[in-house]
Amino acid sequence: MRTLFLAGNWKMNPNSHAAAAELAQAVKVGVGQASDVRVAVCPPAVYLSQIDAVLEGSPVGMGAQNMHWEDEGAFTGELSGSMLIDVGCTHVILGHSERRHGLGESDSMINRKLAAALRARLIPIVCIGETREEREEDRTEDVVAGQLQGSLAGLSAEQMTGVVLAYEPVWAIGTGLTATPQQAQDVHAFIRDRLSDTFDRATANRVVVQYGGSVKPSNIAELLVRPDIDGALIGGASLKADDFLAMIRSARDLATKKG
Ligand code: PGA
Repeated sequence: MRTLFLAGNWKMNPNSHAAAAELAQAVKVGVGQASDVRVAVCPPAVYLSQIDAVLEGSPVGMGAQNMHWEDEGAFTGELSGSMLIDVGCTHVILGHSERRHGLGESDSMINRKLAAALRARLIPIVCIGETREEREEDRTEDVVAGQLQGSLAGLSAEQMTGVVLAYEPVWAIGTGLTATPQQAQDVHAFIRDRLSDTFDRATANRVVVQYGGSVKPSNIAELLVRPDIDGALIGGASLKADDFLAMIRSARDLATKKG
């Protein structure tokens, strides 16, 4: 049984450390000691130390939004996995579409980052997903299969079970357009089949695959109820504590029913 996992991707928000601390505090209080669903927040890097202090004693994890593939050295502006661990990170988002498409990150860069994250003992959340054009051209499965192959190259089955995947159709991110639960489920099932081909069925069944793209309180339940959707990577709606906590409550209700 896979535990549902909700992560808030704060992106380049909020714009003050006080507002970030307030949001993290509200999430901490709202989650309490609940462990029936996994929860993490991914604040901008400049706030990580402070948010780590806010989250002390809480089961809420903390992720960075990016990292470099080298462990140290002359890489201006970059952060290493060991630095992220040192400030209290448990997770790191890799290959978000805003980095793939906006900043030219390739599958091979993401693959090197993934190896570095595992070396540092961070739990990577690897994002994959097709653009609107690729979907319209009926290339979704090819694109997703290529991203899986490129970003996960060289991983052992055991390492794979420690990696979280996030299927985020690029056309659904921040647009208010969500994939229908059936569209999302179809791609999630495809991803699991690819994992089964590359590794084995038992490994594929253990990997948590989140959905991302305009997830909000009103649509999360119908997504999470689908058999291969194991959680959500939430952008905009994770910036309002009430909305994020409402989504966590939905996930907890489902976890209880499923369990
Ligand atoms: P969104 O972002 O929920 O604002 O669409 C999701 C993401 O980019 O991870």
